[in-house]
Amino acid sequence: MTKKITRPVIIVNFKAYSETEGDGSLFLAKACESVSEETGIVISVCPPAVDLSRIAKNVSIPVLSQNVDPYAAGSATGWITPSMVRRCCAVGTLINHSEHKISGSLIGECVELSKAAELVTVVCADNVQSAVLAAGFRPDFVAVEPPELIGGNVSVTTANPVIIEDTVEAVRNVNGAVSVLCGAGVKTGDDVKTALDLGASGVLLASGVVKAKDPKAVLSDLVKHL
Ligand code: G3P
Repeated sequence: MTKKITRPVIIVNFKAYSETEGDGSLFLAKACESVSEETGIVISVCPPAVDLSRIAKNVSIPVLSQNVDPYAAGSATGWITPSMVRRCCAVGTLINHSEHKISGSLIGECVELSKAAELVTVVCADNVQSAVLAAGFRPDFVAVEPPELIGGNVSVTTANPVIIEDTVEAVRNVNGAVSVLCGAGVKTGDDVKTALDLGASGVLLASGVVKAKDPKAVLSDLVKHL
């Protein structure tokens, strides 16, 4: 499998769920790797920071950090720098996830420091307006996720398909090189297909896989239309 993030992509954010503690992250990452190898679809994972290096060195799929802080290597206690993420063998990072928001100017600094560390950048946005601002920093991806739908049982592709279409168009008007992902409540292959039909290059999801009784079965359903 490739460590490159090609399109379409499914990014599984492990967040801080108890299911990811201990060896849980490796179990989940191996399930993602297995389905990715069986289907050829790129599935990327975002383990907790404490597991980043271990996971990145034990799977053949792209591993992303859930966050980076706007610091270069040096005297920065407790922060996660883009350069240390790269040296963990991760290939990219989420930035400004709605559960770990940073101010507008710091988003740009995180994107620039991440690019300098040769990391793929996925800047998260709550709505179309913040997606436009995010696209202005020229990340690789902008992921639009309505916070009120995150962790719920109704997919953004059902509850608010217009936000996906509008984000795709608005981001394209800012910079056609920036790809759009969508997330929040995404749980099935039908959700993924709808997202792609609406112009997204993939999805960002968490609970549908991380909290599943059979993550591999959910992953296989997510890619069934791809
Ligand atoms: O990072 C993706 C996440 O915010 C979506 O969460 O549980 O709705 O798939 P979930």
